[in-house]
Amino acid sequence: MKDYTNLGTISQKISWLGIGTWAWGDRRFWGYGTDYSLKDVEEAFFTTVSSGINFIDTAEVYGGGLSEKIIASLMEKVQTPLVIATKFFPFPWRVRAKDFRKALLNSLKRLRLERVHLYQIHWPFPPVPIEKWVSCLADAYEEGLVEAVGVSNYNADQLQRAHDVLVRRNIPLTSNQVPYSLINRKIEQNGVFRVCQERKIQIIAYSPIGQGLLTGKYSEQRPPSGVRRFLYSKQLLRKIQPLQEKLKEIGEAHGGKTPAQVALNWVICKGAIPIPGAKNARQAEENAGALNWRLTPEEVSALDQLSSHLTSS
Ligand SMILES: NC(=O)c1ccc[n+]([C@@H]2O[C@H](COP(=O)([O-])OP(=O)(O)OC[C@H]3O[C@@H](n4cnc5c(N)ncnc54)[C@H](OP(=O)(O)O)[C@@H]3O)[C@@H](O)[C@H]2O)c1
Repeated sequence: MKDYTNLGTISQKISWLGIGTWAWGDRRFWGYGTDYSLKDVEEAFFTTVSSGINFIDTAEVYGGGLSEKIIASLMEKVQTPLVIATKFFPFPWRVRAKDFRKALLNSLKRLRLERVHLYQIHWPFPPVPIEKWVSCLADAYEEGLVEAVGVSNYNADQLQRAHDVLVRRNIPLTSNQVPYSLINRKIEQNGVFRVCQERKIQIIAYSPIGQGLLTGKYSEQRPPSGVRRFLYSKQLLRKIQPLQEKLKEIGEAHGGKTPAQVALNWVICKGAIPIPGAKNARQAEENAGALNWRLTPEEVSALDQLSSHLTSS
């Protein structure tokens, strides 16, 4: 595989597409333990690693820490060096720098690592000001507990404030992890995309296949089950059809790429690193097929047009 890139201060190159592991251990939203099992998740991991993907995103809150533990046990079974990103959750009862450090040490313990490659603030939630948590990130970086620092779900203003704190400490802000896909292009309008470009902050795109919607498997007649059935309105399921057809048509022109692979490639063409979630080997294999090729500029703009029509009407 040739599709690797640099990510901030992380010494190892990462694949242009990672894997998201929110579903690894999460029962409530994703149905772990009922709809799919630990074995499915293990197979997703091995398929991902053997296809050359080396970037894994998790968080302390995914499955209440189970996602990090599953990753640790699987990492020990492969030789490939992997790049692990995890996240600090600013619960309202966490207010002190030592709460931050304790959360990080607990993540390292669950991951069985001495140092996490990318540590991110999960959300810019109050009551603690952004500047304080970002200073804690800088402390962890200087202490050598993390190789790079990032944030997640930060808007343009919050991103600039975080960046300003780190500039004063001479530490780059590596990334902002935000929702970005053909059904969610808010960052192109709200200033986040622009600030990231200006300040050389990498966008990591979460929910890059619209939590399954862009694979084409869900429609008005076949809505998703679980919590997602409340997230997709009938209107959205109807409006998305022309886009789903275009994804299929473009994929066929690329020798049988699937709609999910085309949707992920669109994210890569925009310069963002997608981290699709995969619950089993089949999904992991399909998502890995989004690498090592690119859409043409004409195809990107055709998808742009259909998706802006989708969000504006
Ligand atoms: N920072 C944050 O606040 C935040 C928030 C959300 C997510 N994330 C991160 O981003 C990652 C990805 O986001 P996400 O899980 O919300 O959405 P996503 O990647 O757009 O969708 C993942 C879901 O789509 C389905 N799927 C995946 N690959 C498929 C394929 N090839 N064919 C058919 N269906 C497929 C699976 O669910 P079904 O099989 O059930 O349809 C899977 O769980 C997460 O795991 C997490 O690491 C971060």
